[in-house]
Amino acid sequence: MKTLAILVLGALLLVFQQQLSRDQQAAPDWAYGYQRALRPGDVIAPPCPETARPFPDCAYAATLPPRDGIKHTLPGAAASFTRVEAYYDFGPADWYPEDHPPMPDIVAHGRESAGIRACALCHFPNGQGKMENGGVAGLSASYILQQIEAFKSGARRSADPRKANVKEMAQVARLLTDEEKHAAAEYFASLRWRPWVKVVETDTVPAVRATTNGLFMPLTDRPPMALGARIIEVPQRPRDTDELRDPRAGFLAYVPRGSIAKGAALVATGGGKTLPCGTCHGADLRGVGDIPGIAGRTASYLVRQLWDMKQGARQSPVMAPVTARLEVSDLINLAAFVASREP
Ligand code: HEC
Ligand code: HEC
Repeated sequence: MKTLAILVLGALLLVFQQQLSRDQQAAPDWAYGYQRALRPGDVIAPPCPETARPFPDCAYAATLPPRDGIKHTLPGAAASFTRVEAYYDFGPADWYPEDHPPMPDIVAHGRESAGIRACALCHFPNGQGKMENGGVAGLSASYILQQIEAFKSGARRSADPRKANVKEMAQVARLLTDEEKHAAAEYFASLRWRPWVKVVETDTVPAVRATTNGLFMPLTDRPPMALGARIIEVPQRPRDTDELRDPRAGFLAYVPRGSIAKGAALVATGGGKTLPCGTCHGADLRGVGDIPGIAGRTASYLVRQLWDMKQGARQSPVMAPVTARLEVSDLINLAAFVASREP
């Protein structure tokens, strides 16, 4: 009886503490592709209409690339594509077919009759994905299926209501057939996660603008800005990533000075406020069984997930207590270290 009371009290305290931290901490807007907090009057993407078939684009409609007919190339790629082809929703350019096994139809083309855009559009044919979407290569098939179910049921949402592409991901998850989700899960699970992020400690970073769906692009005609307590992540080859969807060009994560070492300590010991990450994610953070690998994933994706799980927008009975007492500064340190690990 007594132990039960203590347990209940402990749980209440934890909830209370979590509530406190929810109220007091400013969200890491930069991890969601924003440079400032949500304000009343801001445009928010509505949820995808669940009944519309085919469903409309639920991510923000980006400005269409010019129909100029100009073919572009990428280093070492045999084929060339126009920007319109590179962005074709139901069969985007596959620049390096030699980098991956043949794609199932749902990955390569999606299903146009339902409005489902190709997985390869957002996650790339090699599953590495862009920072504003996420990587899916090398995750276990059953973890991928679990996440599709979580998007579908609403158990996994984004803590930032502006993040429209997560709403589209959820709608994709709702509409996939069993056959399609298994084919996609097995395909992405068969790929290996490759090094994708270079982590650099610094005080100043290039000024950035965000593309419609949250990719930060460096601005060369503006003076650099102070990094402060943030992570600013940009493509290593901005034009190739943004205009051509180059699946071999990774990201550059600018992190505060000293954050990698602080993150290493927190990952190793839990610092008295969380559990050592390796206990579950494996000593090298490359994942164990159905627990996903986190080493070398993009820093903004890592912070977004940790914040989403801390806020309960992404429900995770396992990661909720792990993140409950972490502050945004801890998330920055964790992501700086974890992103810098060899996958
Ligand atoms: C319109 C872009 C878009 C398309 C198309 C898309 N996704 Fe996603 N996907 C996302 C976004 C955005 C996220 C979540 C990022 C976040 O939570 O911050 C995501 C996340 C995921 C995750 C979770 C990864 C993890 O590590 O937990 C899986 C699995 C996934 N997608 C599978 C798929 C599959 C399979 C398809 C094709 C059937 C697909 N996606 C199509 C945008 C897309
Ligand atoms: C007790 C086991 C456990 C510990 C300890 C743990 N994790 Fe996790 N983590 C999980 C599981 C399980 C998932 C998958 C999500 C789910 O099933 O709810 C996950 C998911 C994640 C994800 C999302 C990955 C993705 O693909 O979207 C991140 C990021 C993450 N953990 C980071 C960490 C960090 C950083 C630490 C250390 C501070 C840590 N985890 C400690 C079990 C754990």
